[in-house]
Amino acid sequence: MSTPLLSVRNLQKYFPTSRNVGFRKEKLQVKAVDGISFDLMKGETLGLVGESGCGKTTAGRTILKLIEPTAGEIVFDGKDITKLRPGLMTPLRAQMQIIFQDPFSALNPRQTVGKIIAAPFEIQKVTPEGGVKKEVAALMERVGLNPEHYNRYPHEFSGGQRQRIGIARAIALKPKLIVADEPVSALDVSIQAQVINLIDDLQKADGISIVFIAHDLSVVQHISDRVAVMYLGSSPPHITHIQLRCYQLFRNQIQDLSEAESESSLKVICLHQLIHQLAVYLILDVGRPKISAVVRPLSY
Ligand SMILES: Nc1ncnc2c1ncn2[C@@H]1O[C@H](COP(=O)(O)OP(=O)(O)OP(=O)(O)O)[C@@H](O)[C@H]1O
Ligand SMILES: [Mg+2]
Repeated sequence: MSTPLLSVRNLQKYFPTSRNVGFRKEKLQVKAVDGISFDLMKGETLGLVGESGCGKTTAGRTILKLIEPTAGEIVFDGKDITKLRPGLMTPLRAQMQIIFQDPFSALNPRQTVGKIIAAPFEIQKVTPEGGVKKEVAALMERVGLNPEHYNRYPHEFSGGQRQRIGIARAIALKPKLIVADEPVSALDVSIQAQVINLIDDLQKADGISIVFIAHDLSVVQHISDRVAVMYLGSSPPHITHIQLRCYQLFRNQIQDLSEAESESSLKVICLHQLIHQLAVYLILDVGRPKISAVVRPLSY
């Protein structure tokens, strides 16, 4: 059996916070990621979906060590990077890249597109064959941008084009892993499919492994080999596309529950029950042609 490119075990990220109780400050923790585990194989795309605020972005950034994990283990390409200091992470950064959710804030408005895409070469002190400028022009062409726009600034591009700039920057050093954090959610629906297809094509051509974060299930369905659902900081086992469809059908009820129930521990229990019930339905319904039969009111 092939070894995974990325192994994440029981990963946790807690943020310290506090609240005032009379004259006293009570220390609290936000459990943004609370024990997620998964393997990502070489050349595989894993969809990571979940409701807003359940910890997807925090999980993606922690995996890349852009923020330090509280506990757990991250093994990348056979190397335990969990406790690796930032200085020692630098050479590995070439192999692990991120595509950000918001193409507007992800690009420095004072830098030309050419400079933005060339940044990874500068940071890693790498000179590609034929020179940086030639390589950047080739990258621009590859992601569907006109290389003649090399000296333009980000504000001169549309949202979809800006996301292409972010993608060109992410693939510049031929990484093994890309975390794509909701790369199309800020884009117009008409542009979303183009950008997803571009990521899919690049992934297939270069054999990159991708963690594709999204809250829109229809987005991950097309691009992912497997899907993991995350809820309130943790993730149940991977689910298939049929199961994902069932989750989609339950989604509104999960949303209603999240909004209606303010007491958080009760919310967690209800969500656990709901997901558990969902799992039971899934086991019963896999293989049956009519998934829509699953939709019926729940007694929560
Ligand atoms: N730096 C931080 N300090 C304190 N709490 C944080 C910090 N970053 C995130 N959180 C909290 O962690 C939780 C998860 O946030 P995160 O941004 O990872 O969720 P998300 O699933 O990516 O949401 P969305 O779908 O809206 O992008 C939220 O409750 C958020 O408020
Ligand atoms: Mg997010």
